[in-house]
Order: sequence, then structure tokens, then C-alpha cells
Amino acid sequence: MPETPVIYVLNGPNLNLLGVREPEIYGYETLADVQALCEQAAEDAKIVFHQSNHEGQLIDWVQEARTQASAVVLNPAGYGHTSVALLDALKSLSIPIVECHLSNPAARERFRHKTYVSLVATGVVSGFGAHSYELAVKAALKLIRERAATAARSSKA
Ligand code: DQA
Repeated sequence: MPETPVIYVLNGPNLNLLGVREPEIYGYETLADVQALCEQAAEDAKIVFHQSNHEGQLIDWVQEARTQASAVVLNPAGYGHTSVALLDALKSLSIPIVECHLSNPAARERFRHKTYVSLVATGVVSGFGAHSYELAVKAALKLIRERAATAARSSKA
């Protein structure tokens, strides 16, 4: 794990349109606003923030996170419901994964009720708009600190 905790915040397709795309569902904050919220919530951790509309690019960042990150916060957007390849990439990680959604997919259309990401996520935050990201980053931070404390205890034993 890197010395300064590094949290990768990865965003899937159409999230570049945040603020203008279905704002009644996803809110009026832009992705830049969301990034600022994540950076504020991160305390001493570094945020690496990315968005892509391309499945392969998201997979490349997940693979990069294997060696570069202490935790991943992921809003897979539509790919959460469809991408086995993204799930396979996430399975290669041994760091905490926090799945994050602006809306509450469980309260929406049936096809949104399940995500592949949930199969490997440590936990899921959804339904709080941009605030979901702040909660997800805080959860990631807590998981990172717990892991560091456990590692320190077992190295003393
Ligand atoms: C979303 C929910 C997904 O079902 C949808 O495809 C998105 C955004 C959310 O943040 O609420 O694009 O992940």
C-alpha cells in the first residue's frame, strides 16, 4: 500500500454529463463539483479522479489501482448492470471497493436492481446524490485505516 493513502474514484459512462443529464434523478452538481466534494472528504488521502465512457478504459484504471491505490470508489453507471469484464478486473484487487451511486438503483427499473460490482464491493452507497460520493470516500478512508491498524497489530505480534 502507498504511504499516503490513495483513493481512486472512478466514474463510468455518461457521468461527464452530470448536472445536465436527467437532473431530477442525478442532481444539478457537475462532475467537477463531485470531484471537489471527494477531495474535501479525503482528509490526508490523495484522490485520483477519472471518468470514462469506455469500458476498456475503466478496466485499465481498475488494473492500475491494483498497485497504485489503497481503495477504489467506483460509480460504474450503466456498466455496473452489464459488465462482466469490469467485474473480472475488480476481482483482481485486494483493496477495499466502495460502490457508489447518485440515485438509488434498487428503487428504479428492474434492470437496475442488480449490479455485478456489488458482488465484489466491500459496501455500497446509493441514493444521496453527490453526497453519496462524500460518504463513499469517508467509508473508503475508514476501511484503509482499519486495514493499516490490523497490519500494524499483526507485525507487532
Ligand atoms: C447510476 C445508476 C445507474 O443505474 C445508471 O445507469 C447511471 C448512474 C447512479 O449514479 O445513480 O448512469 O450509477
